[in-house]
Amino acid sequence: MTARKLKVVLTRKLPEPVETRMRELFDTELNLDDRPMDADALKAAVTRANVLVPTITDRIDASILAHAGENLKMIANFGAGVDHIDVAAAVERGLIVTNTPGVLTEDTADMTMALVLAVARRIVEGAELVQRGEFLGWTPTWMTGRRIWGKRLGIVGMGRIGQSLARRARAFGLSVHYHNRKPVSPAIEEELGATYWDSLDQMLARMDFVSINCPHTPATYHLLSARRLKLMQKHAILVNTARGEVVDEQTLADMLKAGEIAGAGLDVYEREPAINPALFGLPNVVLLPHMASATIEARADMGERVILNIKTLQDGHRPPDRVIPAML
Ligand code: 8YV
Repeated sequence: MTARKLKVVLTRKLPEPVETRMRELFDTELNLDDRPMDADALKAAVTRANVLVPTITDRIDASILAHAGENLKMIANFGAGVDHIDVAAAVERGLIVTNTPGVLTEDTADMTMALVLAVARRIVEGAELVQRGEFLGWTPTWMTGRRIWGKRLGIVGMGRIGQSLARRARAFGLSVHYHNRKPVSPAIEEELGATYWDSLDQMLARMDFVSINCPHTPATYHLLSARRLKLMQKHAILVNTARGEVVDEQTLADMLKAGEIAGAGLDVYEREPAINPALFGLPNVVLLPHMASATIEARADMGERVILNIKTLQDGHRPPDRVIPAML
């Protein structure tokens, strides 16, 4: 006997092979024009779905979940971060929440390293200048940035992405420091040559580069508060490919403008897709549109994890990538 196909509702357009496979395996409702769903559309979606597949552009809070129909079983997020989902409210309603860990680690670490390089070596500034026809010849003192090799990188959050960044950073001659809720295993610490700081304050005050690689949870909201940002060295560069909410964006913008911090490379923002206008027009800032995991391969792999989680549920087993409130 074939198991009944679950009704799966996608809130956004996913890569074509992912959508096609989902149509084969499940009773899948696509979002062909890729327009983000508003609150009313999300409420209607949770009423008719067995599985909702949202992304970061959907706010799945308790008011949406209150409309969940009897048949809703799972929120299978397309993405690793789940800060746009009220996981506690979902679990309380007996829903399973899953994410897509592991498959975007290397791409996100690449982009983080790219931002370190871009800001320190003024890559975007240089490229734009050439496009404007302003390269009038080499000079010994023009477009000088800051050396990467031999400097210190402080990683805030030493999970999968933090560790992958650390491996890259070592290859670039950076010494690796990190702050995390707890130290990583001695074996990993040794492999990465990483130095643990249980005091984030102490670490921030000593680093040349700081990278944010922790999830956004109630405990990490504005972890880099105004007070902590001001502990950073004047020549330091901050990079964020995690979540904008972890950093006090207004204070960061003010400090960048005032020269109290040397530069920033940001892929994420506090109120996406809005970006604090104070960040625009600063020469020491590289701003990207939340694209650290944007490779064709990562997006296909993320879809594959979503499929695996739903298929496992459909087959009567426990989906592998369950997120529970205690993990946050
Ligand atoms: C995703 C991300 O593209 O996976 C995450 O947590 O931040 C991004 O790389 C996005 O969140 C998809 O929902």
